Parts: sequence; structure tokens; C-alpha cells
Amino acid sequence: MASVELTQISKKFGALEVIRGLDLTVEDGSFCALLGPSGCGKSTLLRMIAGLETVSGGTVRIGSRDVTEEEPKGRGVAMVFQSYALYPHLTVAENIAFSMSLAGAPKAAQREKAAKVAELLQLGHLLDRKPAQLSGGQRQRVAIGRALVREPEVFLFDEPLSNLDALLRVQMRLELAKLHNELKRTMIYVTHDQVEAMTLADKIVVLDKGVISQMGSPWELYNRPANRFVAGFIGSPAMNFLKGHARATAGGVEVALDGGATLTLPPRAAAVDGPVELGIRPEHVRIAPESEAHLKGCASVVEYLGNTSFAYVDTPHGPMIVESGGVQGIHSGDAVGLSLRLDEAHLFDETGRALPVAGA
Ligand SMILES: Nc1ncnc2c1ncn2[C@@H]1O[C@H](COP(=O)(O)OP(=O)(O)O)[C@@H](O)[C@H]1O
Ligand SMILES: [Mg+2]
Repeated sequence: MASVELTQISKKFGALEVIRGLDLTVEDGSFCALLGPSGCGKSTLLRMIAGLETVSGGTVRIGSRDVTEEEPKGRGVAMVFQSYALYPHLTVAENIAFSMSLAGAPKAAQREKAAKVAELLQLGHLLDRKPAQLSGGQRQRVAIGRALVREPEVFLFDEPLSNLDALLRVQMRLELAKLHNELKRTMIYVTHDQVEAMTLADKIVVLDKGVISQMGSPWELYNRPANRFVAGFIGSPAMNFLKGHARATAGGVEVALDGGATLTLPPRAAAVDGPVELGIRPEHVRIAPESEAHLKGCASVVEYLGNTSFAYVDTPHGPMIVESGGVQGIHSGDAVGLSLRLDEAHLFDETGRALPVAGA
């Protein structure tokens, strides 16, 4: 068992600075997701922890050891990649035990260990199959098995589910969660999929262009986004954003929206005066009679998903998505009123920084 501690880590490829002075502590036994759009530096960061990439600056500590200069195999980590790259001519058991065979372990010990790991991954009945005779999900499980055999202190996953179809991803996600509950090992999991990060992680680290945009629990990131980037990245469908101009009044914060409507939000912790974006999630907006509505618009598309519905509404302030409340019976082209839960609205200043509610 080991924690992972990164101090002022940076990485340059020539003139391109990919990771910029990043500090991060991943607690022993926790599940940490590195989340961000493609190209933000997630894989590079993970590879530096694994020792597959040198650092341009800073230190990597695993447990009590500084491993910054250490070879990958001395770090006590095992990595699972998106492409599972199994050996096609080896069986499941041989693939799983490959690192043991390299180390010259006796055949019987290899087999025994592979069988034990395979059981954990529900591959017990497939030990003698070749990769070509497995489904995508089973192959990915073998790749995970290969990492398990090494009994690392830290597991590193780089988008391990991205090659699987939607249903399998959900299944494997659940199995990874169970695996973490059982092993209680430190896991660092790279993904661009916010649902994976939200469901698996104790702590999510959102990366934006090589710096940490925000880190916190899934609840914190969803309910208390620190900035516009995180607010827009976490949640599906995404948060609605309306541009306007804010000023503090005796009753709260008055936001004059572009397109001409004024809303009053609860007071903010800091002074507010200037251009803002108001953010509100689809579940905090509902279709309402005109007399109760804050905003007016016109429904463009209504999606019925069974357990919920989404209405896409064009307003003079910009497009908005409404989840569920009052969507039933609304059709494309209908004029609608929108009622907003203003106590749930977020405000972002010109630089994208969140302006939290006073006392929250
Ligand atoms: N070996 C390399 N040489 C040059 N540039 C690289 C190399 N590896 C990654 N990059 C660049 O670093 C940036 C971050 O890449 P990466 O860490 O793979 O992002 P992510 O995993 O978040 O999609 C990208 O702009 C990518 O093109
Ligand atoms: Mg990547």
C-alpha cells in the first residue's frame, strides 16, 4: 500500500509545456480519477508516475520513497492501457502470468497465481483460451489480470474502457469499483469520460491544459464547481450558461441577462460588479406557466428518454436545456415559460472564476 505524491511536476516536449508545476497527493488506498479533455496531459502525467516518461522538473514520491529517477519496474506500480496488447499466441493464463514467466517463476506457481487472479476477474473458466477467442471485455479483464499478478502498490489505468461498447463499459466500471473495494489499493485512473470519473473516484482531479483546474469529491465538483471550465465539463447534458451583467443590491445579486431579463440571485461571498455568466443545470429549470416564468422561449426539440425528458429551448438569452419538470405535453415550436431554481444558480466572473453564494 502506498500514497502517491507529486511535487511541482512539469513536463516539456521541446518548447511545448504539457504539465506545468503540478502538485497532487493521492492518498493510500484511494481511487483518484484524472479527468480532462483530450490533449490536456493526462497520459503524460500518468506515464511520469509510472516512470515511462522522464520529468522535466519536480519529484514523484510513492509511499515513503522518492522514485523520480527510478526505473518503472522498481516503482511498485502496474499500468493498464487502453489498448490491451495481449500476446495472441499465449493463453489467458500465460498472458496473465507473463511477468512471472519473465522473472523465471516455476510453471506451477505461474498457473496457480493466474488461476487465482482469473477467479477475481471472472475469467476462471477461460484460462486456456487464446485472446482471439475472447470478447473485448474479457480481453480487457486479462489486461487487468496482468497488472494484478504483479501485486503493485499502485494501479495506474489509462482510459482502460475506451475501446469497449457502451454496455460493457458500464459493466466493467462496476467491476473496477468492486475490485477497488476488495483490494483497497491506490488506483489512479485517467479518463476523458466524466461519468466514469464521477462513478468510480473518491477524488477527481480535473486537468485543463496541464494544470489542475479543480480537485475534489464528485459531489464538490458537481455542486460547487470552482470555475466555468469544471462547471461545463461535469454533468450531462451540460450546465446552461447565460451571459449578463451583475451588480450587488440590498436583496442579493441582480443579473441583467443579455437579451433583456433581470434575475435576482442570493448574495455572493465577494463583491460582484461586472460581466458574468449565470450557470444553471438542466434539472434546475422547468417549463412553467408564463405567470410563474423567469424567462420565455420556444421549444425546438423535445427528447423523451423514458425515465426523464429533455427540452431544448431557444431563448433571447441563448439556448437552454430543461430536464423533465413540465416537459410532458410540450412539442417542437411551442412557446414556453421557464422557471429557474435561482438558489441553485452559479455565477462566473469574466475570468471564469466561480462567485460562490455567501455562507455556502
Ligand atoms: N512524446 C511526445 N512528444 C511530443 N509531444 C507529445 C508527446 N506525448 C504527448 N505529447 C503532447 O502532449 C500533450 C498532452 O498529451 P497527452 O498527455 O497524451 O494528453 P491526454 O492523455 O490528456 O489526451 C498533447 O499536446 C500531445 O500532443
Ligand atoms: Mg491520453
